[in-house]
Amino acid sequence: MTRILAQSLALQRQLIMQLSDGKTYSGELLADQTGISRAAIARHITQLKSYGVDIYSIKGKGYRLSSPLQLLDASKIRRYQACGMAEILLQHVTDSTNSQLMRWLQDGQQLVKGAALVAEAQTAGRGRRGNSWFSPFGANLYFSVYWQLDQGIQAAMGLSLVIGIAVAEVLEQQFGLPVRLKWPNDVYLANKKLAGILIELAGQSHAQCDLIIGLGLNLNMPPNADNQITQAWTDLQQHLSAPIDRNQLIALLQTKIVTHLKTFELTGFKTFCAGFNQRDQFMGQTVCLSSGDKRFLGQCLGVDSQGGLLLEHDGSVQSYFGGELSLRGTSHG
Ligand code: BTN
Repeated sequence: MTRILAQSLALQRQLIMQLSDGKTYSGELLADQTGISRAAIARHITQLKSYGVDIYSIKGKGYRLSSPLQLLDASKIRRYQACGMAEILLQHVTDSTNSQLMRWLQDGQQLVKGAALVAEAQTAGRGRRGNSWFSPFGANLYFSVYWQLDQGIQAAMGLSLVIGIAVAEVLEQQFGLPVRLKWPNDVYLANKKLAGILIELAGQSHAQCDLIIGLGLNLNMPPNADNQITQAWTDLQQHLSAPIDRNQLIALLQTKIVTHLKTFELTGFKTFCAGFNQRDQFMGQTVCLSSGDKRFLGQCLGVDSQGGLLLEHDGSVQSYFGGELSLRGTSHG
């Protein structure tokens, strides 16, 4: 990152911290506090709006957020972290937390297993199959965890399901919500997508492989989200009455994900099979599984002990694996 970019991100962070209480601040006051001109303040506000921050400019009065914002705070996250957990780094804005972790690894930066990166906004958030991931500022969680598998990539089978279980368990334990999982990488609530998982291979050497596990969890989407997301979605806040503590949630997710990854390394997927099946969004339903040009219509029977999708069609049960398979219920999303 260039020095100028770093300076302007730091300045924008300062502005957003000031505005985060939801009160109105004049351009003059903000300029005085930051030591830059009012015109420069206006430029930074425009930039913040482009990251998805909902800021009103009120003529003659100044700037105000549409609603107060709880910012991510590295020291608060640290206080919530379980003992012995690797560091969670905080980035104001990045292109993609997965891409950023990938670059750090490629630049030779040493990361410990479980080290994580979280950002307030992503300018080029990525989903599976080349889709983009809507990542407005301060609204949701955009989170990537580094992990290394000593047994190589073949041992990663079922990993995205394990991460889904970790997310479901945290949300169930914290908020008592009936979370469901859609094979292979989606978290559902009330029949709509709440979170997505993107696992990427960062490198392989000898038997080991480096993985980046990305999680996008919708918490409090802005009103324009419907224009940006093509599938049925939900966010956590609409199912809760109390505000969500994002700093705490990140720490809880890291702990649960790391705990499950350690178990997964020892036992493989079989320990998690029942945990997935009891939360399977499509269990017992007729589904259409598509892989490239092929389509299979059948009854979903959950997953097997390796994390393969069990589908009954044409009188037999078959297990399916693979990154490009997508699953659609025939009744809803
Ligand atoms: C999907 O459902 O398609 C997967 C979405 C994964 C989104 C997360 S947000 C944090 C991390 N960084 C990215 O660019 N993508 C993942």
